[in-house]
Amino acid sequence: MTETPPVCDYEGSDYQTSFWDQGGRQYEDRAEALALKRLLPARGRLLLELGAGAGRNTPRYTGYDRIVLLDYSRTQLQQARARLGDSSRYVFVAADVYKLPFIYNLFDGATMIRTLHHMADAPKALKQIRNVLTPGATFILEFANKLNLKAILRYWLGKQSWSPFSLEPVEFATLNFDFHPQAIRQWLAELDFSVEKTLTVSHFRMGLLKRLFPAGFLAALDGLFQPTGALFQVTPSVFVKSTLAGREVIPPQGDDTLTWFQCPECGAHPLDERSDHLLCPGCGKKWAFHDGIYDFREPLQ
Ligand SMILES: C[S@@+](CC[C@H](N)C(=O)[O-])C[C@H]1O[C@@H](n2cnc3c(N)ncnc32)[C@H](O)[C@@H]1O
Repeated sequence: MTETPPVCDYEGSDYQTSFWDQGGRQYEDRAEALALKRLLPARGRLLLELGAGAGRNTPRYTGYDRIVLLDYSRTQLQQARARLGDSSRYVFVAADVYKLPFIYNLFDGATMIRTLHHMADAPKALKQIRNVLTPGATFILEFANKLNLKAILRYWLGKQSWSPFSLEPVEFATLNFDFHPQAIRQWLAELDFSVEKTLTVSHFRMGLLKRLFPAGFLAALDGLFQPTGALFQVTPSVFVKSTLAGREVIPPQGDDTLTWFQCPECGAHPLDERSDHLLCPGCGKKWAFHDGIYDFREPLQ
């Protein structure tokens, strides 16, 4: 098996309930919805949602015909499936971002929201994403910004040892990273993505403001400030919309989900469909299909 960086595992986590539904984050959720609305293309064929979690953002991807929700955590995907319901529009895939189980040039869109911050090797993760996108595809990436106002002030006051101005990521908690906007732009450029739009999000992520003002009001105000991201980025969260360069290739035609997959271990495809798993014709590994989820984390024994 090829070595991949460690994964921040959300298996069994109540993240959606504790962080979003009961965590007092309506303002951030609405501000993100506004940013996505501004960045998403009106129409699309097949979207890959990386680190989809419990599908909080999935209903916002209205223009896409079909959506693949990918997450390392099976329980997050089970929650997403319960929230979204069974529909041929959604495909649920348990896999590691570093080892995507898809053929190249497949998706004409991808989003990665609140997930890059768990990547110990962000350039490696971005490269995997680039491989499965078709030239001309739209990629919407959210990242946690180390150059945020709070970090700058804390650094200047001597309350924080790391510099928010240097380009390397900072691991502020185990497998939780903040990134410098310039580093993100550099990595995207190296992979042939051209940045079209940058929005700064969560300008007012402060307990006092959130207590004083309704979430809808703060989110609307956030919306007014989001376009300043084109000039400078000092918010805790930044959304970047980029397009993959190159002439558009003709993506695989047809709706047959099985033709999308390749073995994450050896790259062979197409995989053979069996009653409860997909069989790799190259290395013989078996990948489970269980409870509506294609599982590419570890092969069946
Ligand atoms: C903070 S949650 C964000 C979920 C969702 N995008 C949202 O904004 O509500 C991060 C998600 O990334 C997933 N994740 C972390 N590392 C991953 C990896 N290497 N491959 C696939 N998913 C990963 C976690 O399982 C988790 O569901």
